[in-house]
Amino acid sequence: MKKDVKARAEWLRREIRRHEHLYYVLARPEVSDYAFDTLMAELRTLEEAHPDLVTLDSPTRRVGGAPVDELPQVRHATPMLSLDNSYNEGELEEWYSRATRVLGRKPDGLVAELKIDGVSLAITYERGVLARAVTRGNGEVGDEVTGNARTIRALPLALPEKPAVVEVRGEVYLPHEVFSTLNRARRDEGEEPFANPRNAAAGSIRLLDPRECARRRLAFFAYQIPRVVGTSLERHSDGLERLSGWGFAVNPGWRRCTSLAQVHAFIGEWGGKRSRLGFDIDGVVVKVDSLEEQRLLGSTAKFPRWAVAYKYPPEGERTRVAGIVVQVGRTGTLTPVADLEPVLLAGSTVSRATLHNADEVARLDVRVGDTVWVAKGGDVIPKVVAVDPAGRPEGTRPFRMPERCPECQTPVVREPGEVAVRCPNRACPAVRRQGLFHFVSRSGMDIEGLGRRLIEQLLDAGMISDAASLWDLDPESLAGLPQWGGKSASNLLSQLEAARTRPLWRLLVALGIRHVGEKAAKVLAARFGSLEALARAREETLQQEEGVGPTIAASVVAYFADSENAGLVRRLRQRGVDPREEGSTEAEGTRPLAGKTFVVTGTLSRSREQVGALLEASGAKVTESVSRKTSFVVAGADPGSKLARARELGVKVLDEAGLKKMLKAKGVKW
Ligand code: IVH
Repeated sequence: MKKDVKARAEWLRREIRRHEHLYYVLARPEVSDYAFDTLMAELRTLEEAHPDLVTLDSPTRRVGGAPVDELPQVRHATPMLSLDNSYNEGELEEWYSRATRVLGRKPDGLVAELKIDGVSLAITYERGVLARAVTRGNGEVGDEVTGNARTIRALPLALPEKPAVVEVRGEVYLPHEVFSTLNRARRDEGEEPFANPRNAAAGSIRLLDPRECARRRLAFFAYQIPRVVGTSLERHSDGLERLSGWGFAVNPGWRRCTSLAQVHAFIGEWGGKRSRLGFDIDGVVVKVDSLEEQRLLGSTAKFPRWAVAYKYPPEGERTRVAGIVVQVGRTGTLTPVADLEPVLLAGSTVSRATLHNADEVARLDVRVGDTVWVAKGGDVIPKVVAVDPAGRPEGTRPFRMPERCPECQTPVVREPGEVAVRCPNRACPAVRRQGLFHFVSRSGMDIEGLGRRLIEQLLDAGMISDAASLWDLDPESLAGLPQWGGKSASNLLSQLEAARTRPLWRLLVALGIRHVGEKAAKVLAARFGSLEALARAREETLQQEEGVGPTIAASVVAYFADSENAGLVRRLRQRGVDPREEGSTEAEGTRPLAGKTFVVTGTLSRSREQVGALLEASGAKVTESVSRKTSFVVAGADPGSKLARARELGVKVLDEAGLKKMLKAKGVKW
């Protein structure tokens, strides 16, 4: 009996590993997510019933590592150096000539690889089992992140061969698709989105809780075996082949080249395909192939002489940084922003660009007076993408984040594991001002005619102090403001009047409760129906709602437990800002699309947001990813992987015409 169980567990593990490899490394899945989850569930049940059968490298062990208080520091067996950069053919030729001079002959072959824009990671396997993963850190000592590394499905937990020790190095990165899903979710939760995929990968691999890291769906490309005991390698290219054979996702498209001309051709080819890769690269790495020659060439203090990076020219336009200012956001986060000499960028003039956070400024080393490239990010916010080292005037100094809030002089704080620096003073005028901007904004209470300028004017005149005080404004004092007349005053007052009955979810978003964005606010509003009921709810009750996890639940409870927040809520209610949700859970059942779940993909004649809002208004649930629970996938032009997934799972697919027909039958107006 026991023998059968053991054999079944072994078979399940083999099968699961094979599917992980097909899915995450070869991008060629053979079975549906559902079939995969079923195998995993069976293995988990078996292992729970027979704990003695659990092996260190079981796929069930990918998640489940306990959270740690801090990341232990580990010294690298060989330092993790960085690469010298070259920006044109001439500089690449200089590197090649130097290598030729040191060797006394031309290198016996080169390897050209993509330079993945992520963060490097060193993983040690002992007797074939993943034993330790360490970040680059300062190159000598890094942070141990083994629990997090185990969650990366493109990293095998065990190797088919069992050399005594192998170290594998590579790049942890986030594919564009995963990055945008992650940032969308962060925005929905009122969290600061990540600056770019590299930043997101860097933050995720250093998380203290592996379960949280697992949700980030990090990817990995292996690019080097710096150490192997128990088997031998002669060439770097053999190493890459060995890595593929062991089941790693290997830096794609790598090529053995016998001349620099072939390297240039490689650079040209991938430069053309760069924007369609689905992940960020910032150049090409050229390496001497023979490991013996690599040893002969050795390293300088900073860089190996056997490899060099060719950097693609940055995207965007060039301009000069006139100054760097620090803005304080609604949650107190300090954001450095570059003041630029105005430049025309994709159709509009840009004079400011975000530098995101202190880490990003340090990485770019942007200084006042520098010539930089600015580009529009995915979210259309302009950002500084690179500094032109040749354009730096003399006497510049590195930029340092202030140690005190620029607005209220309170010393700033940096929470462990966070990149952001914050002003902790809740009475900080900047925090209050930004909070009010958010309250009235289109994503919050949507009070038309109450823009930033006006809020500032009202604050300066001492006429408002918090959101509730907006409803204390009276026509006489408003009309007395410079450039104000009776008409604009009464317009504003009627806008405020109308805002009293905004849906509850809007008020919840407007209050700025951490982690409560539109999605969570809608769920909470539908379930609890009023501020009063929500304020009374306990964490366990909140968590029973779909999409409300421990983080959101704790944040909601903490918000209402705070006396200042409770005071604001009380003052709002006293002023009649106390919306009730009509479509409570019970009423929901009678709406035409109640109980149906939709996924909208591809290009339709209206934006996906509009179609989603229409469906939600009719009682349907709209989600991002297709699962067996999805009732319909609405597919427009160029639908991509979601349509494929729908077909695979047998989920019903509607085109636009089909959707319109269905809506018509249900009495919903398109
Ligand atoms: S080889 C001695 N190969 O680029 C350094 N690095 O600027 C050997 N990187 O720290 C590194 N793709 O994080 C190598 N195909 C690739 C790479 C790569 C990205 C990163 C790596 C390294 C940084 C150096």
